[in-house]
Amino acid sequence: MISSTLVKAGVAAIAAATTAVAASLPAISAVGNKFFDPSGKQFFIKGIAYQLIPHDPLMDTEQCTLDAKAMKTLGANTIRVYHVDPTADHDGCMAAFADNGIYILVDLDDFATDIDPLAPTWNDSQYKAYSAIFDVFAKYTNTLGVFIGNEVIARANQSESAPYIKAATRDMKAYRDKKGFRNIPVGYSAADIAELRPMLQDYLVCGDTADTADFFGLNAYEWCEAGNDFQTSGYKTLDDMAQGYPVPIFFSETGCNTARPRLFLDQNAILGPDMNDLWSGAIVYEWIEEKNNYGLISYGPPQGEKTGTNIEDGFLRKGTPTPVQPDFSNLQAVWKTNNPTGTAKSAYTPKLTAPACPKSTAGGWLLDGDVALPTLNQIFTASPTNKPTDVGKNQNPTATSTDSSAPTGTNGAVAVGRELSGMTGALAAVVVGFAALL
Ligand SMILES: *[C@@H]1O[C@H](CO)[C@@H](O)[C@H](O)[C@H]1NC(C)=O
Ligand SMILES: *[C@@H]1O[C@H](CO)[C@@H](O)[C@H](O)[C@H]1NC(C)=O
Repeated sequence: MISSTLVKAGVAAIAAATTAVAASLPAISAVGNKFFDPSGKQFFIKGIAYQLIPHDPLMDTEQCTLDAKAMKTLGANTIRVYHVDPTADHDGCMAAFADNGIYILVDLDDFATDIDPLAPTWNDSQYKAYSAIFDVFAKYTNTLGVFIGNEVIARANQSESAPYIKAATRDMKAYRDKKGFRNIPVGYSAADIAELRPMLQDYLVCGDTADTADFFGLNAYEWCEAGNDFQTSGYKTLDDMAQGYPVPIFFSETGCNTARPRLFLDQNAILGPDMNDLWSGAIVYEWIEEKNNYGLISYGPPQGEKTGTNIEDGFLRKGTPTPVQPDFSNLQAVWKTNNPTGTAKSAYTPKLTAPACPKSTAGGWLLDGDVALPTLNQIFTASPTNKPTDVGKNQNPTATSTDSSAPTGTNGAVAVGRELSGMTGALAAVVVGFAALL
């Protein structure tokens, strides 16, 4: 116990010292479909999903310092954090990561505020919650970007919630600009759903650029067999579907764990010549070992039924990170051999055209073209009058708004609501037909 107290005191002293002299990392910006540092060197993500505890892993400077050092050894330059508490102090953790050359991608949503695909909303309370997190993280130069959501659309039949993702993107970009933040990219992290490929990724970047995502992250667990390669893994298909993509695209989660040990050979494809002309790297899932067996480190043996301050769900959430081997070393080795230089900003003049907004497809993408987006607080409910025969060119579904100042919309928007989840295929087809009329 004495020794661990001493170690802790030592770490606290180091943490205090590093906070005082915290280096700030040069801010990364997005140009065309690439990320660049201020010197004009292209930036490729070598990232780790980092969420030790459900609500905010960026409050404990001592822990962040231990983890950031271990991540530097691993070769990581980015972490992805899913949930943070905007009222907490993040200075120590952000400095600890900056000192170790590590950027942060952070989600603006939280459990209570994310967009529910079955009853999508984009409302004042969400706007306030997202902007509170944006306010906090905008001041750190090692904030690489923010996510509007993670896998909001989790099933093929939830594509009609996409206008809400885009509305949130539109409003957070406008908020960033209004507040005078630097041009921190605002993007989305998508589940890899075969029926929605590539419609979702195209939809989020089509149409008016005021509404579009600044980057697209794909959570893909396709490279699952030890013998997989660029072709057999499915990555070639992903790559084909992303040709000409106008904004940075990367894997926001990857690292299938069904073949053990994990070899992470997909990193050779992503960061190597097969994909690095288009993709900006990957985030490996995940730092801490827990029940799902995706961990790269652990803070001690599984705790079974034990409970305690630093134990959650049977695993220690704090302590000295101990590599899970050989996985940790395997990832370290593939990252060490993949150091793409990419394109210099000075030699890069993007000539990229946004894709057209996708047409609806039977049993797949349910939005037809560039449907109007909901305004803040606007909720559309399907109603019997939403039939194509009843709707003239300029008629709209009823908008119920909690904010009387919110316009009810003159362009209409696709009907989305909880009602939809109970619809039969025939009624859903009517709704799609309606969308087509707009
Ligand atoms: C706003 O959205 C959140 C998240 O979906 C929801 O919990 C809340 O009830 C909504 N508030 C209003 C006033 O609709
Ligand atoms: C959506 O798909 C899931 C299965 O993927 C199914 O359980 C659910 O009932 C479907 N919802 C609708 C509205 O069809």
